[in-house]
Amino acid sequence: MPLEIVRNDITKMKVDAIVNAANSSLLGGGGVDGAIHRAAGDGLLAECRKLGGCKTGEAKITGAYRLSAKYVIHTVGPVYVDGRSNERELLESCYRNSLAMAKKKGCKTVAFPLISSGVYGYPKDQALKVAVDVIGDFLLGNEMTVYIVIFDKASFMIGEKLFSDIAQYIDDNYAEEHTDHCRERMRMNRAMPFASEALDSAPMPCQCPMPPEDELSAKLKRMDESFSQMLLRKIDEKGMTDAQCYKKANIDRKLFSKIRSDVNYKPSKPTAIAFAISLELSLTETEDMLKKAGFALSRSNKFDIIIEYFISRGIYDVFEINKALFAFDQSLLGA
Ligand code: APR
Repeated sequence: MPLEIVRNDITKMKVDAIVNAANSSLLGGGGVDGAIHRAAGDGLLAECRKLGGCKTGEAKITGAYRLSAKYVIHTVGPVYVDGRSNERELLESCYRNSLAMAKKKGCKTVAFPLISSGVYGYPKDQALKVAVDVIGDFLLGNEMTVYIVIFDKASFMIGEKLFSDIAQYIDDNYAEEHTDHCRERMRMNRAMPFASEALDSAPMPCQCPMPPEDELSAKLKRMDESFSQMLLRKIDEKGMTDAQCYKKANIDRKLFSKIRSDVNYKPSKPTAIAFAISLELSLTETEDMLKKAGFALSRSNKFDIIIEYFISRGIYDVFEINKALFAFDQSLLGA
């Protein structure tokens, strides 16, 4: 998955480059800066001394010494003042310049901390949004796996409003024991081809007029199309390119080409849902696509309910959804 949000100590990440939230002296400090210097050892400080500091928003690169990474990319985030002092632009350039530096060195994997969200006081949820936006844009045009490493859950906020909205939605819909008869009935009706839309009783005989022959044969043909065939059909119907679809789904190219070349490929549920989100499918179309992969959305699964929350509101941003899934300790889309 090209962009992952993980909970870890960044010094433990096995990646090509670790990004350090440094200060302009580059001579170490507290927080993640201190952790990286402690883990890398004195060699890192000795090399940093030769760099002559770093301006806010810029990035400089060194070796990683005792860290398992090849490089440490030092960038200096803005100190948050009031949100109207160019902080966002400076923070964006931290990510942009660090990614450009990593790309120049041929790094395939990079780990970022949440720059400026500690001592420098940048509000956590806004800092995360900047990180996801800039990294997401970069990944649309570049092959790299990027990790946003959250050190402590408390520092991970998706915004109180969104969090409580989703928590409420889960409470309203999370089926502990009972089977939701209405939904079951809807599902049984949906399982019957051409069933009427009116769902006010137990499964009904089909009442809608039979569609014309060619539409009927198209519908019958679709009933036995595989996941891969439905995915490719939907990409065409949406007028997307393959790359646009798998990038927006946060799926890497290799996995997509596997799905494309194997008509019977069975993806994981998060992967199947990531494509449904990328194609901006409705709930019904999403369930159809999931069924092709052997899955169904379930009311006894928080992951599914959170997906349903976003689709039913027409929110199809995989990175936004992943932030919410992460906040509720669920696996991420595309994983
Ligand atoms: N791994 C991953 N993330 C970490 C770690 C770690 N080991 N330690 C801290 N963090 C997180 C913090 O929880 C915070 O979310 O890194 C984020 C950035 O916090 P800071 O390290 O305080 O960095 P920043 O806010 O950019 O302030 C930079 O702090 O440490 C000094 O020398 C540094 O003066 C500079 C200032």
